[in-house]
Amino acid sequence: MTIVRNKDLTAWNTFGLKVSCACFVEYGSVAELEELWKRNRDGLGLPETGGAGDGTAFPSPILHIGRGSNLLFTKDFPGTVFHSDIKFIEAGGESCGITAGETAGDRRTDVEVGAGVLWDDFCRWSAEQGLWGPENLSGIPGETGAAAVQNIGAYGVEAKDFIRMVKCFDYITGKVVAFRPSECRYGYRESMFKTSAKGRYVVTSVCFSLSSGPNPKLEYGNVRAAVDKALEDTGKSLTPALVRDVILSVRNSKLPDPAVIGSAGSFFKNPVVPRSDYERVASIARIGHSDDCQVPHFDTGSGFIKIPAAWLIEQCGLKGYRDGNAAVYERQPLVIVNLTGEASPEEILAVEKKVSDSVYSKFGIRLQPEVEHI
Ligand code: EPU
Repeated sequence: MTIVRNKDLTAWNTFGLKVSCACFVEYGSVAELEELWKRNRDGLGLPETGGAGDGTAFPSPILHIGRGSNLLFTKDFPGTVFHSDIKFIEAGGESCGITAGETAGDRRTDVEVGAGVLWDDFCRWSAEQGLWGPENLSGIPGETGAAAVQNIGAYGVEAKDFIRMVKCFDYITGKVVAFRPSECRYGYRESMFKTSAKGRYVVTSVCFSLSSGPNPKLEYGNVRAAVDKALEDTGKSLTPALVRDVILSVRNSKLPDPAVIGSAGSFFKNPVVPRSDYERVASIARIGHSDDCQVPHFDTGSGFIKIPAAWLIEQCGLKGYRDGNAAVYERQPLVIVNLTGEASPEEILAVEKKVSDSVYSKFGIRLQPEVEHI
């Protein structure tokens, strides 16, 4: 367990904002988390073991973070930041609570992954094992626990598609509980961990059901064409490792590497709107362009249409828009970046407001942030 007071969080948010927290606690096991919980409940405060732990109270509030890849710290955090360093990848069904009968014959392998494992380390491991599931989600920053909270998604796949079980520590009862995906109320970048049960559960590990039989998902955008080209160029066969390599190169051509330019990936969600709103957007687009101007869209099938926020932002002329040290990323306008590495939270917020207000005034659609504001 590590405890540090007045911790600089620059390396703990992928925007690279220079913010700090009053106290930072990293635990390496469920038992350590349980101990912290008991001490907090009993008013004993931080343990006097190592680091700056001195038995005084946990500064509140408490915030659990992964790698801070989907967070915007709007100011210094006055409380205690908790981080899980629970790291293991374990193949085999038993720990996921699965009986042999459920898995027999369907060529599936169940894998349990600690919440603190970097998501892309899990993706690489799966590809190396020849297991299908997370390959389309390769290269997404952040950790496995946060991936299950956020239901991360890319290239036609969401984490919920192959999550089997989410194991959590319950902050109310102090017990470990496990949820099936149907209980997690997953939606587009949504789960109960972000909404109805926010703050109650801490994910400690996630069980995934991976496929050892071929199960490629290539229907999104140009993924199939890129995979076909890679098969032809390399002479290799279709494996999760090959799909992973293709996805990584597609991502790298569009999205900033947070190690080089600070960002939190997509800043906004793609709006899902009633058909009448979509038709209004289409008619506004026709006025600005030609009669056959096509609005890219995806019909969700329930009367609602998903419109790419990147397209709406681009139509407002904001691709590459810069204000001080913050900017709209020139290759993917859904991403707000800390362009110089020196951006303040206020500068990121000013670009968010500019984008949000511009899209609203042109199209009447209020974009919702995907990034969590702290
Ligand atoms: N588009 C533009 N201009 C651009 C870029 C995109 O008009 O400069 C339009 C195009 O019509 C394009 C469409 O937007 O076809 C979709 O673009 P893209 O495939 O890049 O995906 P996205 O909807 O912008 C989502 C996720 C990304 C994920 C990609 C790929 C959200 C909020 N974002 O972006 O996730 O990588 O799909 O699947 O759903 C993240 O969550 O942080 C993230 C990066």
